[in-house]
Amino acid sequence: MLKIPEPRADQRSRNDMDAFWMPFTANRAFKADPLMIAGAKGNHYILENGRRVLDVSAALWCVNAGHGRTEIVEAIQAQAATLDFVANFNNGATPAFELATRLSLLAPGDLNRVFFTNSGSESVDSAMKIAMAFHAARGEGQRQRFVGRQMAYHGVGFGGLSVAGLGPNRKTFGTLLPGVAHLPHTLDHGRNAFSKGQPEYGVELADALEGIVAMNDASTIAAVIVEPVGGAGGVLPPPKGYLERLRQICDKHGLLLIFDEVITGFGRLGTTFAAEYFNVLPDMITCAKGLTNAAVPMGAVIVRDGIFDAIVEGSVGPGPEFSHGYTYSGHPLAAAAGIATLNVHRDEDLNGKARVLGAEIEAQFHTLADHPKVKDIRNLGVLAAVQFHSREGAPGARSRELRLRCLEGGALLRAGVDNVLISPPLTFTAEDVNLVVTQIRKALDAIE
Ligand SMILES: Cc1ncc(COP(=O)(O)O)c(C=O)c1O
Repeated sequence: MLKIPEPRADQRSRNDMDAFWMPFTANRAFKADPLMIAGAKGNHYILENGRRVLDVSAALWCVNAGHGRTEIVEAIQAQAATLDFVANFNNGATPAFELATRLSLLAPGDLNRVFFTNSGSESVDSAMKIAMAFHAARGEGQRQRFVGRQMAYHGVGFGGLSVAGLGPNRKTFGTLLPGVAHLPHTLDHGRNAFSKGQPEYGVELADALEGIVAMNDASTIAAVIVEPVGGAGGVLPPPKGYLERLRQICDKHGLLLIFDEVITGFGRLGTTFAAEYFNVLPDMITCAKGLTNAAVPMGAVIVRDGIFDAIVEGSVGPGPEFSHGYTYSGHPLAAAAGIATLNVHRDEDLNGKARVLGAEIEAQFHTLADHPKVKDIRNLGVLAAVQFHSREGAPGARSRELRLRCLEGGALLRAGVDNVLISPPLTFTAEDVNLVVTQIRKALDAIE
């Protein structure tokens, strides 16, 4: 048994770093040499020493309209002063209804019903539950299996982790949900390295879904979930025709198709949703991040009418028709931030800006292809990855060192294992892109 020690508050200074157990962070390394952000405006972070550095990741693929947007700050302030909070359990307040309506108008096809959450992880778990509830409502409650994909990231809830495909995130957590199968990933250096935009090869990888159906029978499978463009796995644009093929196979077997648009939603591909960019209509879209420009946490599942109708309209009894929800589903401050964010997108044509910026990113980043340390460059819209050859015996060292050098040069990058992931605010300029590319080349020249 753990012995509970005496409180040791008296031993702590106010800014002691020990207490905060930081998420997805090498805590010991960070606390030995912390990088503290004091402020942010537009495309820049302001460090504690007052230096401005470019935010090349839009925080974590989420501050799509740039930092410190006055319109969003003011909307949050006004809402907080009017109605700080009401739980939307048998009560309601206007902001969530208004935001849901706006989203239903922006989402393609009959994706018209919006279930609010507080994060991408919760959106994914909620979508999986909606899929099960849909089948159950139609007398097909045996459809309980899910299909995810290797190298996918769907957050850290047990549902999302089960369909995700990044080994290090999964390995500690046992068997996760039973009955989950994974499609092969679509990363193919052999055939597709240095593709600009969607790669040519790999549509046939979608046919693995037929194999999974043959193994388990379609009548046991609830849904397939994919990121339209893989994000945290390393920016993996889908091969040409791949998403269309997945849609066809899902239709053939009555499987729901969920697009996890937590990253691709809200302008990253120059459209509000990737579903529109690829012209493939999923049955549900999960989103979060850019929905509120990250100013207040919020996520959502956008659902086709038929799914809502089966679960809610088809229900007998007084309800609730779907026993699921979060205290903060549709939080008024988050909803106010979401409405203000959508206004900024509309008024500044951020989708249009993203299309121009995406072309700039493609042109400038692919100039790095001649560097001997570069193994691959992938891009689509305002998303890109530069992958390096690993240093012998020290995988990941190159990207860690490169990140530090780029920071010195004025750009804070997100580094993975020998790659850097590029997802700046949609307000980045051609000069900003040039600074980043120049710093990456300089750093690559300098490191071993
Ligand atoms: C595709 C995708 N799904 C889900 C999530 C999880 O979102 P959150 O961290 O808000 O729970 C992320 C986060 O990066 C993501 O990229």
